Amino acid sequence: MGSTCVVGLQWGDEAKGKIVDLLCDQHDVVVRYQGGANAGHTVVHDGVTYKLSLVPTGILRPGIDCVIGNGVVVHPPALLREIETLTAQGVQIGQRLHISDRAHVILPYHLAEERLTEESASAADHLGTTRRGIGPCYRDKVGRVHGVRMADLYHPGPFRERLARIVDYKNRLLTAMLPDFVPIDAQAVGDEFLGYADRLGGFVRDTTTWLHQALDQGRRLLFEGAQGSLLDVDHGSYPYVTSSNSSAAGIASGSGVPTRRIDRWIGVVKAYTTRVGGGPFPTEQDNETGERIRRVGKEYGTVTGRPRRCGWFDAVAVGHAARISGSTELAVMLLDVLSGIPELKVAIAYELDGRRITALPAALADFQRCRPVYESFPGWTEDISAVRQWSDLPVQARNYVEFFGRRVGVPVRIVSVGPDRAQTILLRSP
Ligand code: IMP
Repeated sequence: MGSTCVVGLQWGDEAKGKIVDLLCDQHDVVVRYQGGANAGHTVVHDGVTYKLSLVPTGILRPGIDCVIGNGVVVHPPALLREIETLTAQGVQIGQRLHISDRAHVILPYHLAEERLTEESASAADHLGTTRRGIGPCYRDKVGRVHGVRMADLYHPGPFRERLARIVDYKNRLLTAMLPDFVPIDAQAVGDEFLGYADRLGGFVRDTTTWLHQALDQGRRLLFEGAQGSLLDVDHGSYPYVTSSNSSAAGIASGSGVPTRRIDRWIGVVKAYTTRVGGGPFPTEQDNETGERIRRVGKEYGTVTGRPRRCGWFDAVAVGHAARISGSTELAVMLLDVLSGIPELKVAIAYELDGRRITALPAALADFQRCRPVYESFPGWTEDISAVRQWSDLPVQARNYVEFFGRRVGVPVRIVSVGPDRAQTILLRSP
């Protein structure tokens, strides 16, 4: 086997980190291709808990190289803090981290701009973002006039001149719009970011060329999607999405590696659905069932600590995500969380204005009115966290998983019944 992608098929937090960690043994390089410090992975490794945000999960494995691709937006102080914490936890980073010189930089005014849109937006327009400056930075990237890339930080003269112009523009806008805004000092920000650039210098390079050389040497790449396919800016529940292509569609643009170089396409789902932030969620259970899932599944955001919204598995939304992301196998996570729920439901269609539909509507006004059409299943009472063989799962659990795999149209190959590496059922060799 060669290269693999691991992509979430819901609204993020599908426990992709565990699958990436599990597959590290068969890969040489782990690549992040989009998003930024809005992502949060918790990986338990040899009894130690690591929290990763910008640095790919592969860093926990000696010998694995990790790439932060050109499609990622980098907040240098957040990245440096993460590197320091990992180093303090005994992780040897050495020469294994590679940051794209084309990755865009999140600057202090991006955080202020996000505060502006999130705090002054009327409740109806509030997106519920992670407030890490992700949207404003991508906006500047696509807008071009104000975008700053990692490579620019290594040309102090032109960088300072340009930063002065950008900051002047942003200060005028933000002072007018945010009553408590303290204007940004371009000189101080320049000093600060050139300082970060110095400290990150050993890691920054042309990662696209580096990745192609790695492929030519026969090295196997593992692409690690952040967020989930339903948060994809083009294919997700727009405008309640993140600002990048968080489905597998982002791999080619965000890393420079064409997708024909990828051999294995894994879509990761929870055995139910969660979402943080605003936006349509047809199968949401804002009731005792949702609370139970939240409590048992410890469904609180890794980055923001917000309680996650919880609900039933949505085979309509996951089917859409699996098509977009080209998934050929499913990894089903957190099945153990559903033990003890008497009746489980899977959405197989939506009803919109009396019509049955099985595709996601483009208009938010339509998506918000979709009512799920459910198929129901008897649950199981057994604790399944110690099960290691598919055949040892209660028949109700097997029926449930097999059913949604069929509805999504992608076979289930991995089932996870707990956070530990060992708590994994493989329906084919990893
Ligand atoms: P942003 O990415 O911070 O702009 O947030 C946009 C939306 O994506 C919000 O609903 C966030 O809660 C959601 N989001 C961003 N990153 C993640 C993630 O890693 N997991 C789950 N949701 C996320």
